[in-house]
Amino acid sequence: MKPRALIFDCDPGTDDAVALLMAFAHPERLNILGVTTVGGNVPLKYTSLNGLKIAELAGREDIPVFAGCDRPLVKHEYLSVEQIHGKTGLAGVSFPEPKRALESEHAVDFIIRTLLQSSEKITLAVTGPQTNIAMALVKEPKIVSKIDEIIFMGGSITEGNITPAAEFNFFMDPHAAHVVLSSKIKLTMMGLDVTHQLVTTPARLKAIQSIGNKQSQAVFDILSFSGAYDMNRYEIEGGHIHDATVTAYLLKPELFQGRECPVDVEISGQMTMGRTLVDWYNSNNNETNVKVIRSVDIEGFYDLLLECLKKYS
Ligand code: RIB
Ligand code: CA
Repeated sequence: MKPRALIFDCDPGTDDAVALLMAFAHPERLNILGVTTVGGNVPLKYTSLNGLKIAELAGREDIPVFAGCDRPLVKHEYLSVEQIHGKTGLAGVSFPEPKRALESEHAVDFIIRTLLQSSEKITLAVTGPQTNIAMALVKEPKIVSKIDEIIFMGGSITEGNITPAAEFNFFMDPHAAHVVLSSKIKLTMMGLDVTHQLVTTPARLKAIQSIGNKQSQAVFDILSFSGAYDMNRYEIEGGHIHDATVTAYLLKPELFQGRECPVDVEISGQMTMGRTLVDWYNSNNNETNVKVIRSVDIEGFYDLLLECLKKYS
């Protein structure tokens, strides 16, 4: 089967790093045309540097990294998540300075150019604030017909994480999320409802570390750091790796279940800015625009994560 053409837009970020390493391990399944970075967990200069570092860790220097937007479409309150990702975005590990430089082309221009030039439709994996994607859609609406699907981590049916109402990626750029949600592109949403079911317990971390290669050790170190915050905040026995669900869905969609729903995002609320409105029961039979994932085969997910990391041995 021909590998799926993919652009991976992210804000690495500890869980973005895991999602990228899982994707980089499968060149036979995923033809990653480029990694594009956005400001989010940490400022753009760090997310971009981390994109290069993670590609190098994976031995995937063949994949170009493009820096994108460092701020949301409409500036608003910035809430730091350094407690989860560290100051530079990859807490728990220290990778060497990358040998490669970032591409000179802006991520938004790369996304537009690549989509317009491609003879096949391209999937977008999105694990940060959706600013780059929204900018590309506004700048060049013709790209809509060249996008096969956008699989994104963001939003939630129920409570938020960065505020009581909103999930971080949607909170950081709600207007960008609104552009994507109203784009008529095939959308699949990995919200907190499904990502919070995946907890990196000590046993799961031990299984990761026992793989014994540098990539699995890095994932163990990253998740050990980022997990501490979640364990304390949510009083659970491990952390969440939100973004890894996007790559897992790309590789094994059968692990996940959900349904097509009408979904919108709050862009004018004071206390609810960035809140996702998911009409799960769609009682009025409104037009649906997003496949909202709500459950996952938890053990199957962790088996897949281990399988991905073992491919580096
Ligand atoms: O709410 C979780 C999301 O916000 C993840 O993508 C994490 O990396 C942060 O960006
Ligand atoms: Ca992220």
